[in-house]
Amino acid sequence: MAMTHHRRTRIVAAGRPHEPNSPVNPAVDFTSTFTYRPSVEYPQVYAREGIPSFGPLEQLLAELEGGAHGLLFSSGQSAISAMISQLPLGGHLIIPRHAYMGFSSMAQQMAEKGMLTLHRVDIADTEQVLTTVREVAADAQAAGTTVILWIESPTNPMLEVADVPVLLAEAKSLGVTTAVDNTFATPLRQNPLQHGADVVIHSVTKFLSGHSDVIMGAALTNDAELHATLRAHRNLHGTIPGPMEVFLALRGVRTLAVRLDAAERNAGYLASRLSDLTNDETLPLVDVSYPGLPGHPQFDRAARLLRGFGAIITIETTNRRAADAVLEAVEVWTPATSLGGVESLAERRRRHPGEPDTVPEGLIRLSVGIEDPEDLYTDLLRALRSAADN
Ligand SMILES: Cc1ncc(COP(=O)(O)O)c(C=O)c1O
Repeated sequence: MAMTHHRRTRIVAAGRPHEPNSPVNPAVDFTSTFTYRPSVEYPQVYAREGIPSFGPLEQLLAELEGGAHGLLFSSGQSAISAMISQLPLGGHLIIPRHAYMGFSSMAQQMAEKGMLTLHRVDIADTEQVLTTVREVAADAQAAGTTVILWIESPTNPMLEVADVPVLLAEAKSLGVTTAVDNTFATPLRQNPLQHGADVVIHSVTKFLSGHSDVIMGAALTNDAELHATLRAHRNLHGTIPGPMEVFLALRGVRTLAVRLDAAERNAGYLASRLSDLTNDETLPLVDVSYPGLPGHPQFDRAARLLRGFGAIITIETTNRRAADAVLEAVEVWTPATSLGGVESLAERRRRHPGEPDTVPEGLIRLSVGIEDPEDLYTDLLRALRSAADN
């Protein structure tokens, strides 16, 4: 598939067999091993090293991010873990204070074991991040160790938007390795490899597969050596996805463009209507956050850097009780963790003990799906009213 075609075309057309009279979809191999003869050198030995069925999806995700190499993992977490394991013992990891909780907890645990030194920054505060990167890079250089700057933008769940190109450029000039978790923006809205990121990580579980039926991760890069190291890590740690998951994820990603357009349209509509409700004192609604709202602290930056504002909104209710009451009452929304599926999900994030206390107790993360927006709005309004009566 020519790189001159639009992403929306490549996402549908790439990775299909070319041979005459072939199936339109690539084959999925259910095998753990490959036959051989001692006299011949073969590329495939054992499925834990990867199987040919990974190829079309790995290549497609890499292409969508503008990368040369793609690697699937058993989960977003295992892709993250493979990348932070690149730090030598005692290396430095700089992360957003509101990065995805599973990732923060992993980094925290590694720091507690003395494996790395952890630095948390407000990723939206460019000056603060640059100062930290400079200081940590200087310390690391003096100690002869390395640094990874980990960016998430927008962050999960606080939806802070980083100045990704500026942060990447400065990190690069200081010899700092950079990784961007692009799960929230998706490759259709932001492409950090094109601004010099060393690696882009995805939880394929979310928007890419899009139907809440797969757990999978991916690491995309232009660095052949890093790709080979991550591949070796995946093999040694056994973090490959199963063939069925690969089939489902490739099938899901084909419709990413239309799903994301629809979900994003719904999110914009809901964010705007819900923020009007914050003036209604009879409702337990304090705040609405969405990068596409002019009141969002990084609205201008988001408009400049993202090709769309995404499908995640947060609403802050007055407290935990109000949030839980809303989640007891919703009918169209499904109270569940995760995001990026066609169905709208809602979750009070502080139900997880790992979520930091800078995330308000009453904050509900909304993953907006592709249902009728009016139904989504009416259902939430009804749930907010019933929470007010509680
Ligand atoms: C931004 C982000 N990155 C990574 C992950 C981890 O992905 P997975 O659940 O596929 O392991 C998540 C999961 O919620 C996420 O939201």
